[in-house]
Amino acid sequence: MVKQDRYPGFFLTVEGGEGAGKTTNIEFIESWLQQQGLDYIRTREPGGTPLAERIRDLLLTPGDEKVADMTELLLMFAARAQHINAVIRPALEAGKVVLCDRFTDASFAYQGAGRGLDHNALCTLETLVQQELRPDMTLLLDLSVDIGMARASKRGELDRIEQEEKDFFVRVRQGYLNRAAGEPERFVIVDASQALEWVQEAIKDALQERIAHD
Ligand SMILES: Nc1ncnc2c1ncn2[C@@H]1O[C@H](COP(=O)(O)OP(=O)(O)OP(=O)(O)O)[C@@H](O)[C@H]1O
Ligand SMILES: [Mg+2]
Repeated sequence: MVKQDRYPGFFLTVEGGEGAGKTTNIEFIESWLQQQGLDYIRTREPGGTPLAERIRDLLLTPGDEKVADMTELLLMFAARAQHINAVIRPALEAGKVVLCDRFTDASFAYQGAGRGLDHNALCTLETLVQQELRPDMTLLLDLSVDIGMARASKRGELDRIEQEEKDFFVRVRQGYLNRAAGEPERFVIVDASQALEWVQEAIKDALQERIAHD
């Protein structure tokens, strides 16, 4: 495995905008991990523990009261603190692969680039909440906002954040790409507008290179 030496496990996060195919491809990654005989857990953010899932509901259920941008940011990191302590860190210490649907790059993309919250504040929260913990590999499923929104809308009702206007998601996409440009060794960017078979072939190549047994 190509990884940092902080934990015996491997921390793999999957990122991308609405309808990029995160959930679809996480199922594909799960079957790949099973084929390899690797011990893994699958989880998601915001959420991943009972308390963090309750925070997810607070964040995503549409309501009458406007959620202030800073409230949204702090709730995301509150859920993350719980998730890391109860689920992610113990699994990594036990040598497992942790497969996570979204993580802190999503906070930089949505609350940072999307909402315009201060980048340094995000960096401070990242260090405060995660200490040295960072993903070993991040798969960024990149596609145009139009295609992503069309795919996501096919699934039915939009949550509170999905109800934002198009410009917001254009900033989110750029936020992800900027983050990836800053850490090219951690990120694998896959063109998610391609046919699913092509996308999964690219994902398999990346997994084989970085996680497969030697
Ligand atoms: N490469 C692809 N080509 C065509 N359709 C796709 C592709 N990948 C995923 N889809 C379809 O797009 C829709 C959204 O996919 P999915 O739910 O996996 O996205 P997501 O990134 O998890 O979205 P969200 O951010 O809303 O959770 C699904 O109907 C899925 O079947
Ligand atoms: Mg999903």
